Amino acid sequence: MDFLTLVKKRRSCRAFTDQTVEQADLQTILTAAQLAPSACNLQPLKLHVLQGERLEGARSCAWLYNAPAAVLVCTYDDKAWVRRHDQENFGLADAAIAVDHMALAAASLDLSACIIGAIKINELKTSLQIPEDEHPQLILALGYPDETAEDKLQLHDKRKALSELVAD
Ligand SMILES: Cc1cc2nc3c(=O)[nH]c(=O)nc-3n(C[C@H](O)[C@H](O)[C@H](O)COP(=O)(O)O)c2cc1C
Repeated sequence: MDFLTLVKKRRSCRAFTDQTVEQADLQTILTAAQLAPSACNLQPLKLHVLQGERLEGARSCAWLYNAPAAVLVCTYDDKAWVRRHDQENFGLADAAIAVDHMALAAASLDLSACIIGAIKINELKTSLQIPEDEHPQLILALGYPDETAEDKLQLHDKRKALSELVAD
């Protein structure tokens, strides 16, 4: 599959079947995050695979739809690159790139995903006993799409025109 076809195939999924995600596919998806670029190659990430009880523990802290699996992307803020002149911390940027790599890897495997930023950080840390120095940034909800469910948001095809996006 050429790259733009894969990019077009990836779309946020908000209704999943209960089919479990194979461990081999999860490994491929995690490897995509491992290979993602990060500022200064500092790789300030920790990935938590959420399935079973841990996934249930996360559901009250983030709206994960009915995904049968998820990957929580945390950063160590003191290990992320900080731009010297304005103290901008690039942890969230690194997490976002990793999560997008995973979403594209999932699409290449005919899995679907939704990136979740709406997370109750402190509640999630407590519920999953995430170490103090880890900062939950994003979650990738993962699974097989329920093709019978209506996509109520239908946002995938609502993109700005390239002429609006690209500066003259
Ligand atoms: C950083 C980030 C955070 C997001 N957080 C949420 C979220 O909390 N809940 C949700 O349903 N979708 C979330 N999304 C998915 C976006 O709504 C979605 O990508 C956008 O509407 C475009 O649709 P598409 O992914 O189908 O192309 C998030 C996406 C990104 C990139």
